[in-house]
Amino acid sequence: MSNYPFLSQLETELFQGRDVYAVFGNPIAHSKSPLIHEKFACNSKQALVYVRIQPQPDQFTKMLVAFFKMGGKGLSITVPFKLDALSLCQQLTPRAKLAGAVNTVWQDNGQLIGDNTDGVGLVRDLRSQGIDLKNQRILILGAGGASRGIIGPILQAEPDSLIVANRTVHKAQELVASFQDLANTLAVDLEAWPMERLDQVNQVHFDLVINASAAGLDQQSPLSDLAANQVFHSPCFAYDLLYGRVTPFMQQALQRGCRISDGLGMLVEQAAEAFMLWRKVDLQSLDTRSVLASLRQV
Ligand code: ATR
Repeated sequence: MSNYPFLSQLETELFQGRDVYAVFGNPIAHSKSPLIHEKFACNSKQALVYVRIQPQPDQFTKMLVAFFKMGGKGLSITVPFKLDALSLCQQLTPRAKLAGAVNTVWQDNGQLIGDNTDGVGLVRDLRSQGIDLKNQRILILGAGGASRGIIGPILQAEPDSLIVANRTVHKAQELVASFQDLANTLAVDLEAWPMERLDQVNQVHFDLVINASAAGLDQQSPLSDLAANQVFHSPCFAYDLLYGRVTPFMQQALQRGCRISDGLGMLVEQAAEAFMLWRKVDLQSLDTRSVLASLRQV
């Protein structure tokens, strides 16, 4: 421990004879990741320890390096460290590069490998809820980091079209520009819209609307009621990346007869992808949908 005086939360004893994993975030007390990974470990009969760690923002790099020096096996990375993790990893998977963020780290031959499992987690959760993205018309609300993390895997599922609408249109345009080559290769129509355009379109048809904006954190919807009237027509499916409550966005969709989902399933599925990378087990052994069902009861 004396070599790592800044690691007040990392106990050297913890690492002795154990495979240790952790989630780094700030704040982190609310994180469900330890519970999820404990359930995966139990289902797939893996012996491991998974803990929460809250580095101060200026201690992230030191703590990550120390975690692996002490024998740590893998990390989940959450807000606000996904960009720091991207710049720290010596190797990035293609989907981490596309997402411009890292949420999963492990070591191979002394090199830090960074991946991003958010998008694949979303696509898998949608599939589990009966939503196949192929040939669908999809609308994403918001153009921040959460949107960037999911666009690549959504395009790879070959929808008919993907529109990214944002309050600040230039951010949506920049985001779309960075995915345009991939969209062209996959023959997906990819466009950036200002959010107000959704007020004006006349009953545009979307199969799936994903709220990736931060509006729900302030108890708001990114959609005006006018826009909600245009966008939500059954059987449109409304998916909010936030979880744990029915957001104003979800309420708008419900009131107009649409099916809704929060993002808890995405949280479980992105964790499952990380667990599979770390432990080399198959998806079936994790039984992700029973883990999700048990989380809903907590
Ligand atoms: P994250 O990295 O979690 O996606 P972010 O980068 O801060 O967070 O992005 C937040 C997104 O939510 C942005 O697209 C933001 O819109 P602006 O680019 O116009 O700021 C969007 N957002 C936040 N609050 C919103 C609100 N009340 N209505 C609509 N969009 C909102």
